[in-house]
Amino acid sequence: MDIILLGPPGAGKGTQAQRLEQRHGMQQLSTGDMLRGAVKAGTPIGLKAKAVMDRGELVSDEIVSELIDAELTAMGADTGAIFDGYPRTAAQARSLDEILARHGRSLDHVIELVVDEDALVERITGRFTCANCGAGYHDTFKQPAQSGVCDECGATEFKRRPDDNEETVRTRMVEYRAKTAPILPIYEERGIVNRVDGMASIDEVTEAIDAVLG
Ligand code: AP5
Ligand code: MG
Repeated sequence: MDIILLGPPGAGKGTQAQRLEQRHGMQQLSTGDMLRGAVKAGTPIGLKAKAVMDRGELVSDEIVSELIDAELTAMGADTGAIFDGYPRTAAQARSLDEILARHGRSLDHVIELVVDEDALVERITGRFTCANCGAGYHDTFKQPAQSGVCDECGATEFKRRPDDNEETVRTRMVEYRAKTAPILPIYEERGIVNRVDGMASIDEVTEAIDAVLG
Protein backbone atom coordinates (compact mmCIF):
# COMPACT_ATOMS: atom_id res chain seq x y z
CA MET A 1 0.00 0.00 0.00
CA ASP A 2 1.35 3.45 -0.96
CA ILE A 3 -0.04 6.57 0.69
CA ILE A 4 0.54 10.32 0.84
CA LEU A 5 0.32 12.23 4.12
CA LEU A 6 -0.65 15.76 3.17
CA GLY A 7 -0.86 18.77 5.45
CA PRO A 8 0.81 22.05 6.31
CA PRO A 9 4.03 22.37 8.33
CA GLY A 10 3.47 20.93 11.81
CA ALA A 11 0.32 19.02 10.83
CA GLY A 12 1.86 15.80 12.17
CA LYS A 13 3.00 14.11 8.95
CA GLY A 14 6.36 12.99 10.37
CA THR A 15 4.88 11.94 13.71
CA GLN A 16 2.25 9.74 12.05
CA ALA A 17 4.65 8.39 9.40
CA GLN A 18 6.96 7.10 12.15
CA ARG A 19 4.02 5.35 13.79
CA LEU A 20 2.90 3.81 10.49
CA GLU A 21 6.42 2.44 10.03
CA GLN A 22 6.25 0.77 13.44
CA ARG A 23 2.69 -0.53 13.19
CA HIS A 24 2.43 -1.51 9.55
CA GLY A 25 6.03 -2.08 8.42
CA MET A 26 5.71 0.67 5.86
CA GLN A 27 8.57 3.03 4.97
CA GLN A 28 8.53 6.80 5.46
CA LEU A 29 9.82 8.77 2.49
CA SER A 30 10.26 12.32 3.76
CA THR A 31 11.82 14.70 1.25
CA GLY A 32 12.44 17.12 4.14
CA ASP A 33 14.49 14.47 5.97
CA MET A 34 16.34 13.56 2.76
CA LEU A 35 17.19 17.22 2.12
CA ARG A 36 18.32 17.75 5.73
CA GLY A 37 20.53 14.67 5.33
CA ALA A 38 22.02 16.17 2.16
CA VAL A 39 22.64 19.50 3.92
CA LYS A 40 24.37 17.71 6.80
CA ALA A 41 26.51 15.64 4.43
CA GLY A 42 27.42 18.74 2.40
CA THR A 43 26.45 17.12 -0.93
CA PRO A 44 25.87 19.34 -4.01
CA ILE A 45 22.09 19.02 -3.48
CA GLY A 46 22.49 19.96 0.17
CA LEU A 47 24.58 23.01 -0.67
CA LYS A 48 21.92 24.17 -3.12
CA ALA A 49 18.99 23.42 -0.80
CA LYS A 50 20.22 24.90 2.48
CA ALA A 51 19.48 28.59 1.88
CA VAL A 52 16.11 27.81 0.28
CA MET A 53 15.08 25.67 3.27
CA ASP A 54 16.30 28.26 5.76
CA ARG A 55 13.97 30.78 4.08
CA GLY A 56 11.07 28.30 4.18
CA GLU A 57 10.69 28.23 0.41
CA LEU A 58 10.41 25.15 -1.81
CA VAL A 59 13.42 23.37 -3.27
CA SER A 60 13.21 22.65 -7.03
CA ASP A 61 10.78 20.00 -8.25
CA GLU A 62 13.54 18.14 -10.14
CA ILE A 63 15.71 17.69 -7.06
CA VAL A 64 13.00 16.27 -4.81
CA SER A 65 11.53 14.01 -7.50
CA GLU A 66 14.99 12.54 -8.15
CA LEU A 67 15.41 11.89 -4.43
CA ILE A 68 12.07 10.07 -4.27
CA ASP A 69 12.84 8.03 -7.39
CA ALA A 70 16.17 6.91 -5.93
CA GLU A 71 14.58 5.91 -2.60
CA LEU A 72 11.88 3.86 -4.32
CA THR A 73 14.52 2.11 -6.40
CA ALA A 74 16.34 1.12 -3.22
CA MET A 75 13.15 -0.01 -1.47
CA GLY A 76 11.62 -3.50 -1.57
CA ALA A 77 8.66 -3.78 -3.95
CA ASP A 78 6.54 -5.28 -1.14
CA THR A 79 7.11 -2.44 1.32
CA GLY A 80 4.43 0.24 1.37
CA ALA A 81 5.61 3.83 0.93
CA ILE A 82 4.45 6.76 3.07
CA PHE A 83 5.10 9.96 1.15
CA ASP A 84 5.68 12.67 3.76
CA GLY A 85 6.09 16.21 2.45
CA TYR A 86 6.01 15.07 -1.18
CA PRO A 87 4.42 15.92 -3.58
CA ARG A 88 4.19 19.64 -2.81
CA THR A 89 3.43 21.12 -6.25
CA ALA A 90 1.37 20.10 -9.28
CA ALA A 91 4.61 19.29 -11.14
CA GLN A 92 5.69 16.98 -8.31
CA ALA A 93 2.28 15.28 -8.33
CA ARG A 94 2.73 14.56 -12.05
CA SER A 95 6.26 13.28 -11.45
CA LEU A 96 5.06 11.00 -8.66
CA ASP A 97 2.52 9.41 -11.01
CA GLU A 98 5.26 8.72 -13.55
CA ILE A 99 7.71 7.44 -10.95
CA LEU A 100 5.15 5.12 -9.35
CA ALA A 101 4.12 3.74 -12.74
CA ARG A 102 7.75 3.03 -13.57
CA HIS A 103 8.12 1.12 -10.30
CA GLY A 104 4.87 -0.80 -10.86
CA ARG A 105 3.19 0.97 -7.94
CA SER A 106 0.09 3.09 -7.47
CA LEU A 107 -1.40 5.34 -4.81
CA ASP A 108 -4.00 3.87 -2.47
CA HIS A 109 -4.80 6.81 -0.21
CA VAL A 110 -4.09 10.50 0.24
CA ILE A 111 -4.62 11.35 3.88
CA GLU A 112 -5.15 15.04 4.49
CA LEU A 113 -4.38 16.12 8.04
CA VAL A 114 -6.82 18.96 8.64
CA VAL A 115 -5.43 21.46 11.16
CA ASP A 116 -5.94 24.92 12.55
CA GLU A 117 -2.99 26.94 11.29
CA ASP A 118 -2.91 29.14 14.38
CA ALA A 119 -1.97 26.14 16.54
CA LEU A 120 0.83 25.07 14.24
CA VAL A 121 3.36 27.73 15.14
CA GLU A 122 3.34 26.49 18.75
CA ARG A 123 3.65 22.90 17.60
CA ILE A 124 6.62 23.67 15.40
CA THR A 125 8.56 26.00 17.65
CA GLY A 126 8.24 23.42 20.50
CA ARG A 127 9.44 20.50 18.43
CA PHE A 128 12.71 18.64 19.01
CA THR A 129 14.08 15.25 17.95
CA CYS A 130 16.55 12.69 19.23
CA ALA A 131 19.94 13.45 17.67
CA ASN A 132 20.67 9.72 17.48
CA CYS A 133 17.50 7.98 16.19
CA GLY A 134 15.31 10.90 15.08
CA ALA A 135 12.36 10.13 17.38
CA GLY A 136 10.13 13.21 17.60
CA TYR A 137 9.22 15.11 20.78
CA HIS A 138 7.57 18.35 21.83
CA ASP A 139 8.19 20.75 24.75
CA THR A 140 4.50 20.70 25.72
CA PHE A 141 2.80 17.80 23.95
CA LYS A 142 5.31 14.95 24.01
CA GLN A 143 8.22 15.02 26.44
CA PRO A 144 10.38 11.88 26.81
CA ALA A 145 9.15 9.72 29.73
CA GLN A 146 12.44 10.40 31.52
CA SER A 147 13.55 14.00 31.02
CA GLY A 148 16.56 14.29 28.71
CA VAL A 149 16.57 10.60 27.67
CA CYS A 150 15.14 9.35 24.37
CA ASP A 151 12.30 6.84 24.89
CA GLU A 152 13.31 4.90 21.79
CA CYS A 153 17.11 4.55 22.02
CA GLY A 154 18.23 6.01 25.37
CA ALA A 155 20.38 8.74 23.79
CA THR A 156 20.69 12.03 25.68
CA GLU A 157 21.28 14.50 22.85
CA PHE A 158 18.43 16.25 21.08
CA LYS A 159 18.28 18.77 18.25
CA ARG A 160 16.02 21.44 16.79
CA ARG A 161 15.56 22.34 13.11
CA PRO A 162 17.01 25.66 11.91
CA ASP A 163 13.78 26.39 9.97
CA ASP A 164 11.60 25.99 13.07
CA ASN A 165 11.49 29.68 13.94
CA GLU A 166 8.29 31.72 13.66
CA GLU A 167 9.31 33.81 10.63
CA THR A 168 10.33 30.79 8.53
CA VAL A 169 7.26 28.85 9.64
CA ARG A 170 5.02 31.66 8.32
CA THR A 171 6.75 31.45 4.92
CA ARG A 172 6.41 27.65 4.92
CA MET A 173 2.67 28.07 5.51
CA VAL A 174 2.33 30.59 2.69
CA GLU A 175 4.11 28.14 0.38
CA TYR A 176 1.75 25.35 1.49
CA ARG A 177 -1.36 27.42 0.82
CA ALA A 178 -0.13 28.71 -2.54
CA LYS A 179 1.45 25.58 -4.03
CA THR A 180 0.57 22.42 -2.09
CA ALA A 181 -3.09 22.74 -1.02
CA PRO A 182 -4.07 23.29 -4.71
CA ILE A 183 -2.93 19.74 -5.63
CA LEU A 184 -5.67 18.14 -3.51
CA PRO A 185 -8.29 18.25 -6.30
CA ILE A 186 -6.04 16.04 -8.47
CA TYR A 187 -6.51 13.26 -5.91
CA GLU A 188 -10.12 14.17 -5.06
CA GLU A 189 -11.03 13.46 -8.69
CA ARG A 190 -9.61 9.97 -8.22
CA GLY A 191 -11.68 9.45 -5.06
CA ILE A 192 -8.67 8.60 -2.86
CA VAL A 193 -8.64 11.56 -0.43
CA ASN A 194 -9.50 10.88 3.22
CA ARG A 195 -9.67 13.74 5.70
CA VAL A 196 -8.46 13.21 9.25
CA ASP A 197 -8.77 15.69 12.11
CA GLY A 198 -5.13 16.61 12.78
CA MET A 199 -6.08 18.66 15.85
CA ALA A 200 -7.02 15.53 17.80
CA SER A 201 -4.42 13.93 20.08
CA ILE A 202 -1.50 12.11 18.46
CA ASP A 203 -3.03 8.71 19.43
CA GLU A 204 -6.45 9.67 18.08
CA VAL A 205 -4.94 10.77 14.76
CA THR A 206 -3.13 7.41 14.53
CA GLU A 207 -6.42 5.58 15.16
CA ALA A 208 -8.19 7.62 12.50
CA ILE A 209 -5.44 6.86 9.97
CA ASP A 210 -5.55 3.15 10.86
CA ALA A 211 -9.30 3.20 10.23
CA VAL A 212 -8.69 4.60 6.73
CA LEU A 213 -6.02 1.99 5.94
CA GLY A 214 -8.36 -0.77 7.14
P1 AP5 B 1 9.49 19.23 5.73
O1 AP5 B 1 10.56 18.59 6.52
O2 AP5 B 1 8.60 18.38 4.92
O3 AP5 B 1 8.67 20.16 6.71
P2 AP5 B 1 7.11 20.62 6.73
O4 AP5 B 1 6.24 20.19 5.63
O5 AP5 B 1 7.20 22.07 6.96
O6 AP5 B 1 6.51 19.82 7.86
P3 AP5 B 1 7.09 19.57 9.27
O7 AP5 B 1 8.10 18.48 9.21
O8 AP5 B 1 7.47 20.85 9.90
O9 AP5 B 1 5.78 19.09 10.03
P4 AP5 B 1 5.13 17.66 10.20
O10 AP5 B 1 3.79 17.69 9.51
O11 AP5 B 1 6.05 16.55 9.83
O12 AP5 B 1 4.86 17.70 11.76
P5 AP5 B 1 5.48 16.82 12.94
O13 AP5 B 1 4.93 15.44 12.86
O14 AP5 B 1 6.93 16.99 13.04
O15 AP5 B 1 10.16 20.32 4.76
C1 AP5 B 1 11.13 21.22 5.20
C2 AP5 B 1 11.64 22.05 4.04
O16 AP5 B 1 12.30 21.20 3.08
C3 AP5 B 1 10.58 22.79 3.23
O17 AP5 B 1 10.26 24.05 3.82
C4 AP5 B 1 11.27 22.92 1.87
O18 AP5 B 1 12.22 23.96 1.87
C5 AP5 B 1 12.01 21.61 1.75
N1 AP5 B 1 11.20 20.54 1.11
C6 AP5 B 1 10.83 19.36 1.68
N2 AP5 B 1 10.10 18.62 0.82
C7 AP5 B 1 10.02 19.36 -0.32
C8 AP5 B 1 9.37 19.13 -1.57
N3 AP5 B 1 8.65 18.02 -1.81
N4 AP5 B 1 9.48 20.11 -2.51
C9 AP5 B 1 10.20 21.22 -2.30
N5 AP5 B 1 10.82 21.50 -1.14
C10 AP5 B 1 10.72 20.57 -0.15
O19 AP5 B 1 4.77 17.55 14.19
C11 AP5 B 1 5.17 18.84 14.62
C12 AP5 B 1 5.21 18.90 16.15
O20 AP5 B 1 3.89 18.79 16.66
C13 AP5 B 1 6.01 17.76 16.79
O21 AP5 B 1 6.72 18.27 17.89
C14 AP5 B 1 4.96 16.76 17.24
O22 AP5 B 1 5.37 16.06 18.41
C15 AP5 B 1 3.75 17.66 17.51
N6 AP5 B 1 2.51 17.00 17.14
C16 AP5 B 1 2.28 16.23 16.05
N7 AP5 B 1 0.99 15.82 16.02
C17 AP5 B 1 0.39 16.37 17.12
C18 AP5 B 1 -0.94 16.31 17.65
N8 AP5 B 1 -1.91 15.60 17.03
N9 AP5 B 1 -1.18 17.00 18.78
C19 AP5 B 1 -0.20 17.72 19.41
N10 AP5 B 1 1.08 17.79 18.95
C20 AP5 B 1 1.36 17.14 17.83
MG1 MG C 1 8.02 16.47 9.04
